[in-house]
Amino acid sequence: MQIAVVADVHLHDLYGGYGWIEEGSGDIALRTFEETMASTRVFNESHAAFMAVLDDIVRRGIRVLVLLGDYSDDGQPGAVAALKRILSSYEERHGMRFFVTFGNHDCFGPATRHQAKWLTKGDGLDPLLVTSNDETPAPAVFQIGMLGMSTADAVEAMANYGFIRPDKVLHWETPFGHSDDLARGYPVDSNPAGLDFSYLVEPLEGLWLLILDANVFHRENGAWQVRSNAAWDHVLKQRPYMLNWIANVAERASRSGKMLLAFSHYPALPLAMTGKGNMRRAASTPDWSKRMPSLESGRLLAQAGIRWHFSGHMHVAGRIEYDSLVNLAVPSPVAYPGGYVVVTCGEGSVDCEFARLKDVPGFDTATAAYNAQVRRADMGPAFHETIAAKDYSDFLHAHQKGVITSIHLQKDWPPGIVESLNIPVRQLLSAAPYLASQLKHWPDIGEFQLAHMLEDYYFIRSGGEETMRALPDERISFYRHLGNALHASGTTGMPIEYLATLLAALL
Ligand SMILES: [Fe+2]
Repeated sequence: MQIAVVADVHLHDLYGGYGWIEEGSGDIALRTFEETMASTRVFNESHAAFMAVLDDIVRRGIRVLVLLGDYSDDGQPGAVAALKRILSSYEERHGMRFFVTFGNHDCFGPATRHQAKWLTKGDGLDPLLVTSNDETPAPAVFQIGMLGMSTADAVEAMANYGFIRPDKVLHWETPFGHSDDLARGYPVDSNPAGLDFSYLVEPLEGLWLLILDANVFHRENGAWQVRSNAAWDHVLKQRPYMLNWIANVAERASRSGKMLLAFSHYPALPLAMTGKGNMRRAASTPDWSKRMPSLESGRLLAQAGIRWHFSGHMHVAGRIEYDSLVNLAVPSPVAYPGGYVVVTCGEGSVDCEFARLKDVPGFDTATAAYNAQVRRADMGPAFHETIAAKDYSDFLHAHQKGVITSIHLQKDWPPGIVESLNIPVRQLLSAAPYLASQLKHWPDIGEFQLAHMLEDYYFIRSGGEETMRALPDERISFYRHLGNALHASGTTGMPIEYLATLLAALL
């Protein structure tokens, strides 16, 4: 039995422009290159990347697909309509079946949310702010198709993708019963914690997909906000019935010989950890750390009987285990390394393959527009490298390199480390003799600059094992030994020690 898991498609409405251009007019609506390079995901390539993912899944003969949330750019009806047109076409032509959960970009709780994006037409020139807020002063363009959906809107729009009993399934239920009626199937009321659209479905004989809606909302600064940081901590606190339902499902699955796989938009475990046994703890940069759940949440989910959980949200590929729970981080098609996951279930076994996108027909649809924008403004080397990419895989690699410099290095590290970027590792380690001695085994690494080590950290963090395999063995081996030496000494005062600890947590 095989299924595909696709996370964070973030479909941008390329051909409809959220109502700004007419679908089928021959023109396209593009996000600007500047916004693309300032974001952790690419926008204009999402359509081509999603089609390439779906075609690859069809080619493999897989017909069941889970969309792990953030399927839309930002919950706009224009983007959701574009997504549904694609899903319908694959249902009709290939008999595919889609089961969906929401991410933090798909719906905004009890209320809608205004969205505004700078868009150009295919020539890439004269960007205009297209907004759902009709109070935005001209020359902004008002389009209601840009308005981010409330959760009630989203569940209505996507009802046929798992939120009501789908055709041709062997079993379907929600934490609240078996009613096919959306209004009665879920306790939709003004309590934001009540907006829980979780369900269990059996699309293939013996395979139970537990699709958990982990969006919990709260009121902040006069608006509803989703608790996307450490989401599972909030879900378990605000939905006391959740663990009981999961435990009940797991017990029934085990009794009736069903393979149980769980899915939600958010990680159920911290995606990088260090230490062993009782000393196990999350180890990541501050920005990542605040987004990760506590180990206690993972322990409770494991205790309830979840063995396999698939998460999106972080746009990375990875696998982490704790207390009999495996969390598989499913990468996004629109951020490095770019791909999705194929799950093969056998007699009690689960095998996960990361399917990486390389050749994506039409990924360069926006290249002419990017070139036009680069010609008009003085843009840095990362822009030029990204435009020059020869295939989609290179494009995402170059984009990620730009993101490391323009976002991660600025946000994640103290000025001390940023100022040391060009200093060779040998020089940085000379202040710590117990670490400097490691260099004798890897003489070439000494001349390596700190910037390269930082870059390796982010690429490994995003690409997981496959990225590691592509790096020289010598470097990975050095990072491991550095981590072990640090672990033995317990010292983590210098920036390079801190970096080595984080690297070791990924290896
Ligand atoms: Fe996302």
